[in-house]
Amino acid sequence: MTLIECRDLTREYRKGENIIRPLDGLDLDVPHADFLALMGPSGSGKTTLLNLIAGIDSPTRGSLTIDGLDISTLSRGKLAAWRSDNVGYVFQLYNLVPVLTAFENVELPLLLHRHSRRKRQQLVSEALERVGIADRHDHFPRQLSGGQEQRVAIARAIVTDPPILVADEPTGDLDKPSAHAVMQLIQQLNSELGKTIIMVTHDPHTTEYAKRTLHLDKGRLVEQGQLLEGAPA
Ligand SMILES: Nc1ncnc2c1ncn2[C@@H]1O[C@H](COP(=O)(O)OP(=O)(O)OP(=O)(O)O)[C@@H](O)[C@H]1O
Ligand SMILES: [Mg+2]
Repeated sequence: MTLIECRDLTREYRKGENIIRPLDGLDLDVPHADFLALMGPSGSGKTTLLNLIAGIDSPTRGSLTIDGLDISTLSRGKLAAWRSDNVGYVFQLYNLVPVLTAFENVELPLLLHRHSRRKRQQLVSEALERVGIADRHDHFPRQLSGGQEQRVAIARAIVTDPPILVADEPTGDLDKPSAHAVMQLIQQLNSELGKTIIMVTHDPHTTEYAKRTLHLDKGRLVEQGQLLEGAPA
């Protein structure tokens, strides 16, 4: 069953006199529990697409239907509420808050939800346990390795139990062994918890963990350098 449906999805930015179009009429279907890797040259629209799916940005044109709801029609406030229930975001450089411990970083998204302190503690502990880093709960980001920081960031992304996880080059800053461990973890979130995952990557090795790989070029999906069949010229 389709979870995410993009139709004619277009994002334009005005730059002085010019209009740039990082996403240009993209059609995409992502089924429930998919693990999709997205590749493509720099500037091809990968992050732009993730930001739209994550409800951080809104399209200029087209529809983006997620679990039956066209989120492109939501107001900013409704979109923010939708996002906090539905999407976890994992970044290349982790984006942890340096003055907060691992535990406090993971707790942050829960502060937008109505939970008791005790319930929050339980959810944070479970998330840290799931990413295999419960013993580092009181460490600050600077006291962690890159791989450990990314685990904390993944715990933060899943602590609210969102059905969708988007990841923008999650292993881009890691050495090979840490990248492998992080990819195994992301794969488990897909296979064991049924999270639908959309991951941008520049590394062909990491696509081996995904169920399928699609390529973007100039804001559209392509196959081996050709526009996908059925896409308008
Ligand atoms: N907020 C913005 N305002 C203006 N232009 C933007 C904005 N966000 C993205 N762009 C432009 O849109 C294009 C696509 O950007 P995007 O970040 O989606 O590329 P990408 O595929 O993620 O590239 P990379 O692999 O380098 O991360 C780029 O030309 C970029 O400069
Ligand atoms: Mg990018």
